[in-house]
Amino acid sequence: MYWLGIDIGTGGTRALLVDEQGSLKAACTAAHEEIRMDRPLWAEQRPENWWDAAQEAIRGVLKQAGAKGADVKAIGLSGQMHGLVLLDADNKVVRPALIWCDQRSQPQVDAINQAIGKANVVAYTANPMLTGFTLPKLMWVRDNEPQNFERVKKFLLPKDYIRFMLTGEHVTEVSDASGTGLLDVVTRRWSREMTDRLKLDASLLPALKESVEVTGAVTAAAAKATGLKEGTPVVGGAGDQAASGIGNGIVGPGAVSCTLGTSGVVFAYLDRPQYDPQGRVHTFCHAVRGKWHVMGVTQGAGLSLQWFRNQFAPGAEYDALTADAATAPPLSHGLFWLPYLMGERTPHLDSIARGAWVGLTAKHNRADMIRAILEGVSYSMRDCLQILEQMNVEVSSVRASGGGAKSAFWRQMLADILGVSLATLENKEGSAYGAALLAMAGSGAYSSVEEACRNAVRETDQLVPYPHTSAAYQRGYEVYSVLYPTLKPINGLIHQLI
Ligand code: XUL
Repeated sequence: MYWLGIDIGTGGTRALLVDEQGSLKAACTAAHEEIRMDRPLWAEQRPENWWDAAQEAIRGVLKQAGAKGADVKAIGLSGQMHGLVLLDADNKVVRPALIWCDQRSQPQVDAINQAIGKANVVAYTANPMLTGFTLPKLMWVRDNEPQNFERVKKFLLPKDYIRFMLTGEHVTEVSDASGTGLLDVVTRRWSREMTDRLKLDASLLPALKESVEVTGAVTAAAAKATGLKEGTPVVGGAGDQAASGIGNGIVGPGAVSCTLGTSGVVFAYLDRPQYDPQGRVHTFCHAVRGKWHVMGVTQGAGLSLQWFRNQFAPGAEYDALTADAATAPPLSHGLFWLPYLMGERTPHLDSIARGAWVGLTAKHNRADMIRAILEGVSYSMRDCLQILEQMNVEVSSVRASGGGAKSAFWRQMLADILGVSLATLENKEGSAYGAALLAMAGSGAYSSVEEACRNAVRETDQLVPYPHTSAAYQRGYEVYSVLYPTLKPINGLIHQLI
């Protein structure tokens, strides 16, 4: 018997199968089309492409495991958060999805704050309104594409579009809904205050469940398309970060994960909602009933390296790039990278922040440039961790995860820059694995999500910071910290230019 976890990522969709022990049996990824960026800071993907990728990944993983659809007991979904998928009366996609890193909706954020009041937004949703969230993206479509908005009957988040294609149900769950700007995160219900005060038709919102609840079953059409068995239950699952929290065993106080995905996330468990007074980190529902999490998000983590590769080393393996970086010394001969390629959330909450290499000289080479990128992203992760510490969130063990953490070199650098020991997990699958564990807990294979994590998640090694390197990075972090405020007025001028 198997459980299927599916993660609709940014770069691709990953499907994996685990057995009764929660051990990984097979995994398959299908790549997505490139993100469409018609203008700086805009980012769109086609939901239909995610569904094509999901079908390919599901078929691929079943084939790899030599499994039949009937061998799959339940399915869990995870996916990139905050994206806006719009469906019409015939459940057809109205326009490409504005995805998590799209920053075009600052005027709509301002209008929402104006209409409701900044303090009320926090009171109703537990978070300030941000361009990254789904609601201002919806408002952008209403304001700029009325002909599209008129046709909209439902909005869904990315993984929930795949749920719709699998089950025919319009459903989301609390962890992903937390990132819409429309959820009362404290009571785990849609906020009537937000929809009423914005005169937004509440029927646009999908139904809401907890992450372990069954949300529907695979339809005959989806069974035909994927090789799954009709009637297989699909549980709520979680937004990719909460799912990764489950996959990394972040289900109790003190455990924190650092995820180097396309975005970079420092994620901690909360027994009760706790907030940063400046709203620099998100307080969202966890995928565990009655629990929450807090996370700092840097927009351009793996994205920074991917951008470098696409522009300057097309087709290069990431391992080759990090091996190159390892030939440069710590501090990259005084070269710094600001990873703000898609604006920034934590710590700056600035939709028009821009990336930069600062400190270039003729001596710098490609290795320095790549190393500076890895260092800059790691400094930004330190910004995130520091805010959690300032909030007195308990941090007793830190676990590395995500594609970037597969590099031992980057993991050690992160340990040195964060100044903490960094644990590695036996299973580094993160979000898709968390989704599979939620499917296990939701179908009775485990009595709870916590039990699933206790049984399935194991640390392997601990990387301890090298004192000498760590001290050098402390000095580097001090310089890094003054770069953004210094460049901020220039970013404003550039923004007015285009
Ligand atoms: C979390 C976030 C990203 C995306 C893409 O708030 O925006 O992590 O989910 O991974």
